[in-house]
Amino acid sequence: MAINNLRLWFRRWWGRDRTTPTVRCALVLVVFVVAISSWKKDRGKGVMRGVEGPLLGSLDPTLVDLTLVRDAKAKGALCLDGSSPGYHVQRGDSFGSDNWLLHLEGGGWCNSVESCALRSRTALGSSRFMQEVHFVGILSPYPSQNPDFYNWNRVKIRYCDGASFMGNVQNINQSGSQIFFRGERVWEAIIDQLKLEGLAKAKKAFLTGCSAGGLAALMHCDNFQAHLPQTKVKCLADAGFFLNEKDISGRNTIKAFYDEVIHLQDVTKSLPNNCSTMIEPWQCFFPYELIKRIQTPIFILNPAYDFWQIQHILVPTESDLKGHWGRCRMNIRYCNSNQIEILQGFRKSLLHALSEFQHNSKVGLFINSCFIHCQTISNITWHSPMSPRINNKTIAEAVGDWFFENRDVKEVDCPYPCNPTCFHMEFI
Ligand SMILES: *[C@@H]1O[C@H](CO)[C@@H](O)[C@H](O)[C@H]1NC(C)=O
Ligand SMILES: *[C@@H]1O[C@H](CO)[C@@H](O)[C@H](O)[C@H]1NC(C)=O
Ligand SMILES: *[C@@H]1O[C@H](CO)[C@@H](O)[C@H](O)[C@H]1NC(C)=O
Ligand SMILES: *[C@@H]1O[C@H](CO)[C@@H](O)[C@H](O)[C@H]1NC(C)=O
Repeated sequence: MAINNLRLWFRRWWGRDRTTPTVRCALVLVVFVVAISSWKKDRGKGVMRGVEGPLLGSLDPTLVDLTLVRDAKAKGALCLDGSSPGYHVQRGDSFGSDNWLLHLEGGGWCNSVESCALRSRTALGSSRFMQEVHFVGILSPYPSQNPDFYNWNRVKIRYCDGASFMGNVQNINQSGSQIFFRGERVWEAIIDQLKLEGLAKAKKAFLTGCSAGGLAALMHCDNFQAHLPQTKVKCLADAGFFLNEKDISGRNTIKAFYDEVIHLQDVTKSLPNNCSTMIEPWQCFFPYELIKRIQTPIFILNPAYDFWQIQHILVPTESDLKGHWGRCRMNIRYCNSNQIEILQGFRKSLLHALSEFQHNSKVGLFINSCFIHCQTISNITWHSPMSPRINNKTIAEAVGDWFFENRDVKEVDCPYPCNPTCFHMEFI
């Protein structure tokens, strides 16, 4: 049902041409992620669709309530609309009770006052619209679905600042509309609150995130370790390895977009480890540069044909005015041989960017040749009989092997369409 909505929305959006490319780009970022997350929610709810509420919630151990940050106003740690940020937590037990897994929600970025104002009226910009969430995939409480982390303390941190938890603007009057750009303070306030709830005494801690949240996990990785000097910390970016590639019309769409986010939200001073002293701030948004400056061990999980990157970096709609890519960018099975060749080039760029970390023992890799985006927060892709595998390992098994240092994990798939275990997203 939601896929149909997405398709309808996309068709309507396609025909409209009144907004500027930048606003459209920002719009597409917001609406896509909202549409995809509601699609995921629909799927996650399964048989419970239509009968929601606290009664059923209490019966379903995967449904977890929202906790708001205390004293958010006093700390200046606010969502775009000025509401308190929040997170969901499920306590660990048994031998997992001293360990913490944090997951930073994703959802694109906003690059203008208008697009951030639009976002401030959604769950990606205001806790007024946030509801309880299902803990699945890397957050699942079931050992069969989440073999290594099921009994840890698990936290999903909601994303409501539009800049990967990195903005920090004191003034709230952005061209007359009152919007808060306080992602950095949101991050600090949530970590401080979790430390009081036991995170400070963690033996092991794993900071993960998907998409914009995956980038945020990298950005804050060393800072997270600094918060927890007694703890063994590692980080994972799921679909957060964004590439600085030109789009098919030769434009630097993604670079220009990040530049706007950074200036709007004054991100430069939050960049970790002096990232912007030798290079430009926008370069720090590309993990290829960022990772070189991170001390803490990190895992890069990324599909080689990340549909978000294909739809927004390689083939943003304004780069494909004739619509040649209309079907291919929505379903890899519809790509013709020329398009597949271009996608293989994109994969080569990814592997080239990662080649520098191939011999770094602190870096784990799982690069599968699937047309998908986030893979840690779905019970199908993370660990199930239908999981994409490389060398017969599910993503959960590969990440577990790396986290617990059972082996050096550098899993890189052969090119599409070689891997029959792939789960390819089909928008049409
Ligand atoms: C994933 O979760 C949904 C809803 O919780 C369930 O219906 C489905 O069977 C699960 N799939 C797998 C492969 O575990
Ligand atoms: C923001 O601007 C509006 C009108 O432009 C004004 O009424 C309001 O007092 C300003 N708020 C702050 C906190 O400066
Ligand atoms: C950043 O640069 C300053 C001055 O150059 C230095 O004192 C500081 O240690 C650096 N911080 C990191 C995390 O590299
Ligand atoms: C792949 O792993 C599964 C367990 O996850 C095992 O049952 C199966 O035999 C393995 N297949 C091969 C070809 O090694």
